[in-house]
Amino acid sequence: MGSPKSQIELPSDAAQNAYIDLLKRSVTNYPYLGGDTPFERFRCIVHYDLPRAQWTIDPLARPITLLTKGQLDLVEHSILSVEQRGVPGDFIEAGIWRGGVIILMRAMLNVHGITTRRVFAADSFEGIPKNTRALNDPVDAWRDRWSASLEEVKGNIERFGLLDDRIEFVPGYFADTLPKFTDQKFVLMRLDSDSYDSVEESLVYLYPRLSRGGIIIIDDWHLVGCKAAVENYRARHGVHEELKVHDGNAYWMKS
Ligand SMILES: C[S@@+](CC[C@H](N)C(=O)[O-])C[C@H]1O[C@@H](n2cnc3c(N)ncnc32)[C@H](O)[C@@H]1O
Repeated sequence: MGSPKSQIELPSDAAQNAYIDLLKRSVTNYPYLGGDTPFERFRCIVHYDLPRAQWTIDPLARPITLLTKGQLDLVEHSILSVEQRGVPGDFIEAGIWRGGVIILMRAMLNVHGITTRRVFAADSFEGIPKNTRALNDPVDAWRDRWSASLEEVKGNIERFGLLDDRIEFVPGYFADTLPKFTDQKFVLMRLDSDSYDSVEESLVYLYPRLSRGGIIIIDDWHLVGCKAAVENYRARHGVHEELKVHDGNAYWMKS
């Protein structure tokens, strides 16, 4: 897959585009947090890099995704790509935090009249656990473990009018929950769990379930543990598809 923007045509329907654009602005809380920064360059994570005392935002105004516009675009374009090519399978995000990406995935089903696919939302709902296999992963020193409860996430999705049984929650630690997917087919998987162990577990249990022609996206390409987990998995399992990086997210299409 080339640059997602250059190869995938956006839907021509202006109302659909406007809804998805507004949704991206809402889940990032850009209208409240954006200030003078254009949406294309807005990074809500900047607020968290400041010491808490310097936060210019009320904690209640935390966005419901940490993704940038470009990263949300990658999710949208990947869905359009697999849909246009008729590749079978469901969508999954492993590491959902407050659920913003799940909201976008579920909205895309409505906007494009996709009736055959479902959205899986896998998370501990207790934050990122410490590594037990990988030592020296800087993620273990983070104070914020990015925890959001299942109730909080359901509330967020409900407020967008998108909570229904086409979203399946997979609560628990990946090592316990993801092995159950022995027959499931996924067409888009987004791994966003930050640590070496968590990313490795997601790959081990989920990648074999990705359809040929399906797309895998890995957040946090700048995190050494995450990157090492992906590179080790690719080397061990002979995954040679070209890996591309778009706005800090790695992705490739399974061939
Ligand atoms: C940075 S947050 C995800 C951000 C989110 N995708 C967004 O849209 O902003 C990382 C998430 O991964 C989850 N997580 C990390 N390791 C996990 C594991 N081993 N099992 C289950 N959940 C895990 C955490 O609970 C947290 O919600």
